[in-house]
Amino acid sequence: MTFSPDRPTMIEFRDVHKYYGDYHALRGINGTIRAGEFFSLLGPSGCGKTTLLRTIAGFEGIDNGAVLIDGKDMAKVPANARPTNMVFQSYAIFPHMSVAENVGFGLRRDPRSRTEKAAAVEEALEMVGLKGYGARAAHALSGGQRQRVALARALILKPKVLLLDEPLSALDKKMREHMQVELIKLQRQVGITFILVTHDQEEALVMSDRIAVMFEGQIAQLADPETLYRRPNGRKVADFIGTMNFIPCQILSETGGRIEVEAKGLGRVMLDEDQVPPARGEGEPVVGLRPETLTMLYPGQEPQERAVAGRIDEVIYFGDMTYYDVFIGGTDVEVRLSMRNVPGRPVLDVGTEVQLAWSPSALVLFR
Ligand SMILES: Nc1ncnc2c1ncn2[C@@H]1O[C@H](COP(=O)(O)OP(=O)(O)O)[C@@H](O)[C@H]1O
Ligand SMILES: [Mg+2]
Repeated sequence: MTFSPDRPTMIEFRDVHKYYGDYHALRGINGTIRAGEFFSLLGPSGCGKTTLLRTIAGFEGIDNGAVLIDGKDMAKVPANARPTNMVFQSYAIFPHMSVAENVGFGLRRDPRSRTEKAAAVEEALEMVGLKGYGARAAHALSGGQRQRVALARALILKPKVLLLDEPLSALDKKMREHMQVELIKLQRQVGITFILVTHDQEEALVMSDRIAVMFEGQIAQLADPETLYRRPNGRKVADFIGTMNFIPCQILSETGGRIEVEAKGLGRVMLDEDQVPPARGEGEPVVGLRPETLTMLYPGQEPQERAVAGRIDEVIYFGDMTYYDVFIGGTDVEVRLSMRNVPGRPVLDVGTEVQLAWSPSALVLFR
């Protein structure tokens, strides 16, 4: 990631509330998005991502608070006067027009000459990897190509902020992964702020400089992908991003920010302050442990820190990886761990008694 954190603010949300009738869709959104950032709004369906994106575009008014773009309050600025442009989930390209006509659509009231506009269209097409496609009929394009046309049509207007609402969700997995990389490259090349809405946590992690994780009309955590993954600020975020094992635990003592817990199956562990997010009141305490922080010990291997005995309950083979669900420490606690498949390391069978290495520093406490 090449993103520099000291860029100026592009978007600012100040206590944004939005109601649809009685339904409180946005419940006090605060946060900033920086200029040149690839930013994602991530959360389950219905949490308010599209609504929040539309408040930036000006397609949706707000009931309280303020949305600022480039330092300016947008309350009285209509959608067509904002420095934003939106790419929709459904592409919304015109099938009866040519590719060039689609891309140039937003320039129809632009005072530039025909030749200048044609050059702008060609430049936009080149940006999205569709150089020379201008004369083709839009309806004859593949899904990935249509999405590129939609992007070119938005970029040609040179917005400061490009808003993308689940732009890749209609594509198949391979094409989606390809377009993710294309979008990252494109964003770096044009350098403008991209705000992506997605419900796909992997997509958000792969693409973003920073991510706002949303639940029920609120931002639960706003951070860079690594922080979200390694130091989620609550159980909900931990559960939504990647896979997290939750192991019941008992809090034994708390001294000077350090907390000692007894985790079921793992035993006693001392946790540092940064392993204990501030969020409270989420139920019985548990420690969280990511699958890749547990390692299956093969004959002759020694644990670097701690080890726990286990019995394999389930084997999920992925080709390059294998996931194992393992009962640990003679208890009914089951953890999932991931192992890279390398030559000389056989995939183990259900029922095998194993030793798992783990590190106390990989734990996060939720209470
Ligand atoms: N125009 C609308 N009228 C009434 N309710 C709406 C409208 N648009 C969205 N909602 C509701 O607001 C909530 C958030 O919607 P949305 O922002 O589209 O969520 P997301 O994009 O995260 O899936 C949902 O419960 C949805 O049903
Ligand atoms: Mg949506």
